[in-house]
Amino acid sequence: MGRSTLLFDEMTIGTDTTKVGTPVPPVEGTPPASQVATLPMDGLQKEEDPPRGIRLATRLSLTIAVLLASCLSLALAFATWRANEVTGERIHENLKLVPALYSSFADSEASARRQQVKSSAEQPGTRALLAEVRAGAETFHDSAQDFARDLGAEMAFFFDSRGALLARSDRAAGEESGRDFSAVAWVKRPLSDLTESSAFILDVKRKKALFLVAAAPVTQGEGRELKLNGVLAAAFPIDDARAMELGHLMSGEIAFVANLAPRGASPETAVVAATAPLRGVGFQGILASTRALEPIFGRGEPFGPLEFSSKGEGYIATALPIKSGSGEVIAALVVARSKDLELAAFRQIRRGIAWIGAFVLMASLPISSALARRISHPIEQLAAGAEAIRGGQLDIALPRARGDEVGTLARAFAAMVAELKQKAALEKWVAEVLRRPGDVTLGSRAVLAADQALPGLGVEKLFAKRYYVLSVLGEGGMGRVYRAHDRDLDEQVALKVLTRSTFGEGTQAEEVLKQETRLARMITHPNVVRVYDLGESEGSRFLTMEYVPGTTLSELLDRRGKLDLAPGLQIAKQICRGLAAVHSANVVHGDLKPRNVMVMANGVVKLMDFGVARGSRVGENKEGILAGSVQYMSPEQARGAVLDARSDLYSAGVTLYEMFTGQRPFESEDRETLLKMHLHEAPRDPRTLRPELPDVLCHAILACLAKSRVQRPATASDLERALLRVKI
Ligand SMILES: Nc1ncnc2c1ncn2[C@@H]1O[C@H](COP(=O)(O)OP(=O)(O)OP(=O)(O)O)[C@@H](O)[C@H]1O
Ligand SMILES: [Mg+2]
Repeated sequence: MGRSTLLFDEMTIGTDTTKVGTPVPPVEGTPPASQVATLPMDGLQKEEDPPRGIRLATRLSLTIAVLLASCLSLALAFATWRANEVTGERIHENLKLVPALYSSFADSEASARRQQVKSSAEQPGTRALLAEVRAGAETFHDSAQDFARDLGAEMAFFFDSRGALLARSDRAAGEESGRDFSAVAWVKRPLSDLTESSAFILDVKRKKALFLVAAAPVTQGEGRELKLNGVLAAAFPIDDARAMELGHLMSGEIAFVANLAPRGASPETAVVAATAPLRGVGFQGILASTRALEPIFGRGEPFGPLEFSSKGEGYIATALPIKSGSGEVIAALVVARSKDLELAAFRQIRRGIAWIGAFVLMASLPISSALARRISHPIEQLAAGAEAIRGGQLDIALPRARGDEVGTLARAFAAMVAELKQKAALEKWVAEVLRRPGDVTLGSRAVLAADQALPGLGVEKLFAKRYYVLSVLGEGGMGRVYRAHDRDLDEQVALKVLTRSTFGEGTQAEEVLKQETRLARMITHPNVVRVYDLGESEGSRFLTMEYVPGTTLSELLDRRGKLDLAPGLQIAKQICRGLAAVHSANVVHGDLKPRNVMVMANGVVKLMDFGVARGSRVGENKEGILAGSVQYMSPEQARGAVLDARSDLYSAGVTLYEMFTGQRPFESEDRETLLKMHLHEAPRDPRTLRPELPDVLCHAILACLAKSRVQRPATASDLERALLRVKI
């Protein structure tokens, strides 16, 4: 590591010190300036393109549209589900009425047919025909056909008084004649009781049809003379027309399902009559799958509800057994209601709602996009503002203040912009101050005198085997401050060598200093000078801390008098932040004054010497207080009382007073008088010295200067909040 590089202390102000050249060992890893310039710039210039996405407004309006559409579909889905439920329940209820309706229909139908046959049986011609025992088979057959036609029956029968078949219209003359029907229930009753009868019969062999048959006795004579000559019967078909009639009555679809299987075999069904929608429906499968065959055809019980679908339509049905005269189940009546038909009205309404929904959705699109734009516009404005700030442009349009979260964001943004502007103003102002030629820093003034005063420790000498002293930064009441290169850490530090008399070994001051330094070391904050270590070398106590390339606030005030509002406020706020950090580490600064506030060229302000000054005063009387500090001292400190955070706020108040008016609130050549003034005299309103000062600022300064600490702002953050309210 050679001493080839010369680094100039550029932060010392004035022409004669800017060239205080000090040979410094080059910092490892730092390439020479010439090399830096020739570094390839590709990597720096390439900025990653931001990811492209859907605009916020579009996303918002789309979200609203999707939400609306989902709400609508959800509502429709729920309504459909409910409608299905309700319809199902209603159909079930209605189907419960089917048995009663059917039995009344069947009864009236049967009684009408019996009456019809009875009146034909009572006709003299009929009586005469059956009284004529010797009438030929041809005659009976012709008469049976005439009767069938007249009665509108499918077939007519004549039986003799013993129940033997004389003729039937649907067979050839003489065929089956003499066959005994006396055991058949509907023939037996007229024979034995001389009353009419009726029953369902199923033609399994020929027509595969269901009939309602009615029979009536044909008699001769009256009273005691009454004589049975035979029986007249007619069979009426249960056909599609009857099914339709029943369908109207029951407001449903009807199917007569006959069991064509031989007696004793498992049921084999076929639709023998039905309303149009149920014709050709495979009931065998439906009844089998719903396990309805056994209850209906085996046990002769009604069955329902059973659900099935045919030709894309859903039905709910109930089935009733139809029994023959002997009580055997020969068929089933299926009464079905179409769910779709019942839901038709609802579906129409649903279609209407869907159309209206679609219309609302279309109409809502422009409305929601306008709404979304209203929400997103300020955000876009803020985003554009942020971009502009990134580009160094601070005069940006901000959205109007609103009461919502965007408003909060806008206000925070405006505060941030104001802050940045103040910072920029401060930077500019510091740069201007530093540019003025011909000035010599206080520090450098001290250099000449002090350097000669303390031989053995000086520029270009190695101190404590570790610190290579580069220059003298200044001298204060506690000792001298050097800029040094820490060889161990290979970085620049500020080295404060404390006066031996005050911080001698074993003194109480040394103890307090150790304690305070232990706490101070913990503080890492941009507005606080970092304290590194407390050390000792050849009987001298020294303190190492962050080297701050800048100038003290006191120098700035000496040069320019009172500060402009924007840079002043910026410095004041940073002082507050630094103080808040110091206080939160349970450290009381105890010596806040412009000489202990460093201002860097980039506008960053740093507090120094917190806690350290207190160490120097332990065990001393008021005389021991540094001359430069009395002007900033709180009344409680003047009294020798215990200090707390609010004592620092008093000193901050004096500092702010000086910054904004160019004068301290209390001035006197005599230390005692000054202390008394702090204790008892009310400060002049700063506006008497600078009328344009904002009220909020004046109130904040005067609040800090309250004699009683309870009347001061409670914390440094409170003071900062007050300063943030100052509008300039
Ligand atoms: N960490 C530092 N970085 C850069 N310069 C510093 C640092 N600390 C002190 N200085 C410089 O050294 C000078 C002397 O500081 P010092 O704290 O010893 O005295 P003071 O603050 O001027 O007076 P007092 O003793 O009353 O606090 C300061 O004015 C400042 O210019
Ligand atoms: Mg100091």
